[in-house]
Amino acid sequence: MNTMLSSLSQGLKGQFRVPGDKSISHRAIMLGSLAEGVTQVSGFLEAEDALATLKAFQLMGVDIERLGEGRLRINGVGLHGLKAPQEDLYVGNSGTSMRLLSGILAGQKFDSTLTGDHSLTKRPMRRVLDPLSLMGAAVESTDAGTSPLKVHGGAPLRGIQYKMPMGSAQVKSCLLLAGLYAEGTTEVIEPAITRDHTERMLKGFGYSVKTEGNVVSIEGGGTLKGMSIDVPGDISSAAFFLVAASITPNSDITLQHVGVNATRTGIIDILLKMGADIQLLNEKVVGGEKVADIRVKSCQLKGIEVPENLVALAIDEFPVIFVAAAYAEGQTIVTGAEELRVKESDRIQTMADGLQTLGVDAQATADGMIINGGAVQGGEVESFDDHRIAMAFAVAGLQSRGAIKINNCENVATSFPNFVELATQCGFELAAK
Ligand code: S3P
Repeated sequence: MNTMLSSLSQGLKGQFRVPGDKSISHRAIMLGSLAEGVTQVSGFLEAEDALATLKAFQLMGVDIERLGEGRLRINGVGLHGLKAPQEDLYVGNSGTSMRLLSGILAGQKFDSTLTGDHSLTKRPMRRVLDPLSLMGAAVESTDAGTSPLKVHGGAPLRGIQYKMPMGSAQVKSCLLLAGLYAEGTTEVIEPAITRDHTERMLKGFGYSVKTEGNVVSIEGGGTLKGMSIDVPGDISSAAFFLVAASITPNSDITLQHVGVNATRTGIIDILLKMGADIQLLNEKVVGGEKVADIRVKSCQLKGIEVPENLVALAIDEFPVIFVAAAYAEGQTIVTGAEELRVKESDRIQTMADGLQTLGVDAQATADGMIINGGAVQGGEVESFDDHRIAMAFAVAGLQSRGAIKINNCENVATSFPNFVELATQCGFELAAK
């Protein structure tokens, strides 16, 4: 799929599931591979990013059987059973694969190299390399602090206490995974609470992790025991439909079995503050993660100042939150979101540029955006090869005054391969070429 053309919708209806959670899918492969015994996974996200992690572990000798749509059987090799890969570990567009794997690879006896695509090669890796070297790891990047990353095996790791300079679940998870191989305690202090799937899943695998407020710690030297994992729908994929149904009159949709872990529901809190009509139904806990059906109906959104404490809890949803703000009455101000500048694209700049092309009064700031809601015009925008930018503009086209053409949409497949299919089924006017 190269381009998407999104035009006026008369209303969105239906009940359906979005694909499995990307963060949980990555971690299921990683911990299932490092566990002793079998791990069964259902609801796994069969998309490029998570499949990149799967392939990396296969290259390190792990037998992972694909049993059918979203179903895997991982024959774990134990924490010390990975084998040296015969080639570089290429993880495509996936920052999560690269950063979490660097922590695991730092604890191995063998050398390895991590590489990625054009976008990933530009993203900052010192944020993991600096603390890993404090732990004793020998990992090299380019002079610019980017990949390829060369990991020299056999360096003994020791636990550290690390105060993270940025709110990042990837950095926290990298260090906790390296901590499995370290002598003593690895303690990570977060400046803001970020997604806690690694901690939850480690506990599910029988590994003790301590969390006290914003401090997470782990002791090295234990073992993981295989288990069953039911991956819930990805709230970051559901987010496109939450905004789509909110801004499109005559809409009423229910997204079934979505993960609503409290470290991920910033999008719901932000939309509720904007006046959205969203209800959580059938809430339950599945495999240590909270899930619910999310029902959303059309409404008139209003602009807000997004509280900074919600930013890390909605970090991947800002492209579509900016679209919600463009359709809201009044002004929306986002601050404290400078991390958006180092995602798959600079999501502050790419969204501000695209929205301005569509006639929206959107001003990028160093750490966020100021958007005055109003009429959205049609036009042609770039995705900058960023899946979430592409899908956010597909949502913007539902109520714009003319159609919106979005270029370079191939990377939608990294997180949401059936986006166009689900979107058109529920009432998007969306053509893909
Ligand atoms: C992720 C953490 C977030 C998020 C990414 C997935 C994870 O990145 O943007 O899509 O699975 O841990 P940061 O930790 O860099 O904020």
